[in-house]
Amino acid sequence: MRIAILPGDGIGPEIMAQAVKVLRRLALPVEMHEAPVGGAGYVAAGDPLPAKTLALAREADAVLFGAVGDPRYDKLERAKRPEQAILGLRKALGLFANLRPARVHPELAAASALKSEVVAGLDILIVRELTGDIYFGEPKGIRQSAGEREGYDTMRYRESEIKRIARVAFDAARKRGKRVCSVDKANVLETSQLWRDVVSAEGAKYPDVELTHMYVDNCAMQLVRNPKQFDVIVTGNLFGDILSDEASMLTGSIGMLPSAALDEAGKGLYEPIHGSAPDIAGRGVANPLATILSAAMMLGYSLNQAQAASRIEAAVSRVLRDGLRTADIHTAGARKVGTEEMGDAVVANL
Ligand code: IPM
Ligand code: MG
Repeated sequence: MRIAILPGDGIGPEIMAQAVKVLRRLALPVEMHEAPVGGAGYVAAGDPLPAKTLALAREADAVLFGAVGDPRYDKLERAKRPEQAILGLRKALGLFANLRPARVHPELAAASALKSEVVAGLDILIVRELTGDIYFGEPKGIRQSAGEREGYDTMRYRESEIKRIARVAFDAARKRGKRVCSVDKANVLETSQLWRDVVSAEGAKYPDVELTHMYVDNCAMQLVRNPKQFDVIVTGNLFGDILSDEASMLTGSIGMLPSAALDEAGKGLYEPIHGSAPDIAGRGVANPLATILSAAMMLGYSLNQAQAASRIEAAVSRVLRDGLRTADIHTAGARKVGTEEMGDAVVANL
């Protein structure tokens, strides 16, 4: 099995080093090949997604991705900015289905900004469409209009795109709590009206799964009011981006959440949902658990190594039970550790 390792920018290399350490320790028949991406890709090859990196990702059985984004490159033309690397990979590899599970580890309920009784036992799955919507819709740009500049983007979804992501959500719900909440803004947006119609029609083919609809503003509110009402949330690219950051804080920290981005054949790119955190990069304090848990998801979903995946997840739980905490999840009485010590502790608990 070949895994493409793309550490990226900011804390990316630090957290990726921990995940690689965990993968090595499992002694599976895997080859890992590393390549630069994001700002690092721009520095190495003048392109956030260098051709060699894309080729490696295409050939690999799975991709493990760190994070991209570096304020030093924010002033470059958009095509050269670090974020284009992840957007380009998603598009080029057809990774339309983004699974973002938000689970509260019992040990971390106190680290949530919400009261622990509101989040204890929380287990939701956000299914975010990842290759369409206003992220990729054309036309987009900044133009001159009536003597001033005007920025514009296009929100659009084709029926087939909505259908296939809806199916992913319904299939996932069948293996969980059998409930799907589809999130849109159908009271205002035509794209959302179509979304709602198509999801409803697909839902009729899954009579064993309960389907509800919710406007995105209400969903943002319900997620902090009563998050346990949700099982699977399915939504478009932009709403999913925002809601998944919000959901991460229910679990205590954005530093805990892994994700999978899958194509139609189940090949995937795995990444923590957090960004490159330039403010703490290079200080050895970032939480590597989201990346380590992303590696576990990769083993389970794309590499047919469910047992190895469970070993990683169990090791993470044990480390948390032992009271080890990086700064982002630290609470009084726990032992504060750095990135590397956290990675070593997971390895020791495998
Ligand atoms: C995410 C990130 C990306 C997104 C950025 C880095 C382009 O926020 O994966 O959630 O907006 O999709
Ligand atoms: Mg995001």
